[in-house]
Amino acid sequence: MKKFNRRISVAPMMKCTDRHDRYFLRLITQHSLLYTEMVTSAALIRGDAQYLLQYDPFEHPLALQLGGSDPQELADAAQLGESFGYDEINLNVGCPSERVRSGSFGACLMLEPSLVRDCVAAMKSVVKIPVTVKCRIGINRTMSYAFLKNFVQIVHEAGCETFIIHARNAWLNGISPKENREIPPLRYDYVYQLKDELPELEIIINGGIKTHAQIAAQLEYVDGVMIGREAYGNPYMLAPIDYLFYGDDYSIPTRTEIIERYLPYIKQQLKQGETLHSMTRHILGLFHGQPGARNWRRHLSDPNILAQNNVNCLWDALST
Ligand SMILES: Cc1cc2nc3c(=O)[nH]c(=O)nc-3n(C[C@H](O)[C@H](O)[C@H](O)COP(=O)(O)O)c2cc1C
Repeated sequence: MKKFNRRISVAPMMKCTDRHDRYFLRLITQHSLLYTEMVTSAALIRGDAQYLLQYDPFEHPLALQLGGSDPQELADAAQLGESFGYDEINLNVGCPSERVRSGSFGACLMLEPSLVRDCVAAMKSVVKIPVTVKCRIGINRTMSYAFLKNFVQIVHEAGCETFIIHARNAWLNGISPKENREIPPLRYDYVYQLKDELPELEIIINGGIKTHAQIAAQLEYVDGVMIGREAYGNPYMLAPIDYLFYGDDYSIPTRTEIIERYLPYIKQQLKQGETLHSMTRHILGLFHGQPGARNWRRHLSDPNILAQNNVNCLWDALST
C-alpha cells in the first residue's frame, strides 16, 4: 500500500518530471511523493487542460505544481487539479527564470507575501486536498532569516501548513536559472531555524541533497527532503528509499527489473502515438556510475535507433 507523506519527494523539474518520467520513477520508489513540472494557471484555464493534466494512476502519490499569481485563476486551476485526482496542489514561489518573472510569478512573489497568502487562500477555499508552497530562502543578494520567517508566517495565515524550501536565495538579475541552482549559497541553517521556531509547520528542505546519508542527516532537523537533480540524473538512488525511509521490507528491484516493468508502459504509450525517445530520454541515468553506463546512454541517445520506435533497443542497449 503506497503511503502519502512528504518524507521524501522528487522535485518538480521542467522538461524532466513529465508523466513518462514519473511513471519510470514510480517503478523505483513506491512512496516518494512525485511532483509534476510547473504548469501555469493560465495554460490550464485557457489551454488544453486534459492534455496538460493527464497522468497514469500508478504515479500516485502525485502533486500538481502550479505557477501563477492571480488568485481566482489559481483557484480555478487548483479545482481542475483536484478533479483530475492529484493529491496536492503546490504553488511555485521559487523559479527565477525571465519568462516566469515577466508573468509576475515564481520567486519574485517572495517579495509579495500578502499576494501569495491571497493566492493560497483562494485555492484552499475551493479544494479539499492540501495546498503547499515551494519557495527559496530569500531574494537577490540580501541574506535575511527574518525575511524568510516573515514570508512564511504571512502565507501561513491563509492556512498553508507545508513549505518546501529550496535553501538558497533566488537572484533575479545577472545569472541564469541554471546558475541560480548553483551560485547562491546554500543556507540549510535558515530552514532548520524555521522548523525550530515554527514547529507546527511541516518543513521540507531542498537543494543540493544527493546521498542517503545526507537525507538521513537532514531528517534530524526537518520533516522531509525533496531531491531534484540527483533523482533525475541518477534515478536508481531512489531504489533503497522505501526501505530506508518508509520502513518497507520488500526486495529492492534491480535495474534490469525496472526496465522490464517499464516496457509494457512504453509499448502501450507507443500505441497511443508517443515516441520512444519521449520515454527513453528519462532513463539515460539508470546505470549512472555502473560499468556500461556510457554505452547504455549512447545507444539510447542515437537518433537513428530511436527513430525506429522499437522497444527491443532497450535490450540491445543493455548488451552493448
Ligand atoms: C531542469 C530543472 C527544472 C526545474 N523546474 C522547476 C519547476 O518547474 N518548478 C520548481 O519549483 N522548481 C524547478 N526546478 C528546481 C528544483 O525543483 C529544485 O528546487 C532544485 O533543482 C534544487 O534541488 P536539487 O539541488 O536537489 O536539484 C527545476 C530544476 C531543474 C534542474
